[in-house]
Amino acid sequence: VFSAIEMAPRDPILGITEAFNADTNPAKINLGVGVYYDDNGKVPLLKCVEKAEAILIEQHAPRTYLPIEGLAAYDKAVQELVFGADSAVIQEKRAVTVQALGGTGALKLGADFLKRFSPDSEVYISNPSWENHRALFESAGFKVNNYAYYDETTHGVNFAAMLAALKAMPRGAIVVLHACCHNPTGADLTQSQWDEVIAAVVAGGLVPFLDMAYQGFGAGIAEDGAVVRRFAATGVALLVSNSFSKSFSLYGERVGALSVVAASAEEASRLLSQLKRVVRTNYSNPPVHGGKVVATALATPELRQMWEDELAGMRVRIKEMREAFVQKLKAKAPGHDFDFVREQVGMFSYSGLSKEQVAKLREQSIYAVDTGRICVAALNSKNIDTVVDAIAKVL
Ligand code: LMR
Repeated sequence: VFSAIEMAPRDPILGITEAFNADTNPAKINLGVGVYYDDNGKVPLLKCVEKAEAILIEQHAPRTYLPIEGLAAYDKAVQELVFGADSAVIQEKRAVTVQALGGTGALKLGADFLKRFSPDSEVYISNPSWENHRALFESAGFKVNNYAYYDETTHGVNFAAMLAALKAMPRGAIVVLHACCHNPTGADLTQSQWDEVIAAVVAGGLVPFLDMAYQGFGAGIAEDGAVVRRFAATGVALLVSNSFSKSFSLYGERVGALSVVAASAEEASRLLSQLKRVVRTNYSNPPVHGGKVVATALATPELRQMWEDELAGMRVRIKEMREAFVQKLKAKAPGHDFDFVREQVGMFSYSGLSKEQVAKLREQSIYAVDTGRICVAALNSKNIDTVVDAIAKVL
């Protein structure tokens, strides 16, 4: 039964981590995966997480099963963070949230749910998009198409083409939009461009699926979440996947959530019952620890403030690295313009490096995604010169 199974290709992002882990060079640098490292090159354990964990340890709570939809306090905290505590969709009980296994788990729950109730719809993702979007929606059974997004010549969004693509989509099409910090390009829409996107989605009868894995890494927690609130205010059917992997530095705990906005409280309760079936048949119910940490941190004012400050610290350090990267490349590779890196938002830079140049960097034990995406959040004051020198060499 197994003899004819072929070798699957390596994952375009996590496969790089595998290659990095196998590299014995002690000076190796991983700019592949989207993980925030501090200036010492370490994945931080946030103070707010440590404190929340101390509270939880004191409780000596038994590890019972969580409800299928997850911890109630967590789901409530997620809704308030994502939609705003004063949101009509919360007050009118039109939003349902289920705890999920990271942002990827949330996307897959949403994809499986949509496939069950909108089986003939097709999915549209940005060109380019997060490497796993296509595979994930295809594995749920959807045909996945691209919509125009990135303009290589301007290093920004080709907005006219994007809007035209949205307007050409058939009613009922599922459109995956990055709420902030576009992965992989770092090129986000302006507020007025979002106005036009929202209008096109509503007028075209499209189903928006907002993916928000980097809330707080762009302009701020509220600013980055603003587009979700604006979509919710239109009354359109809406799905939102969010993740705390990066914003709480809780990668391995797999803490995310899927929220779905319905037309009424009654419809919402039907949706929740179906989402629970998707969860139950996949992994039954989510794990306890990460959800409790996040719920505790978000609901305890002192820890909440600490989190906001720590997240702001990460955001600022990434911006400093962008600036240093641009300045240093100006000095080391004067014929090349990397100013656009300063304008990009979030953890990533679509550097413009070719697949061949990325391969050459790898020969020097510097790992990036084949598409040229580099994780700016993995640069630090100690490794940036090595990276810049290596890039200057391959250009
Ligand atoms: C990334 O894009 O690198 C992250 O979202 C991690 C992942 O799961 O791919």
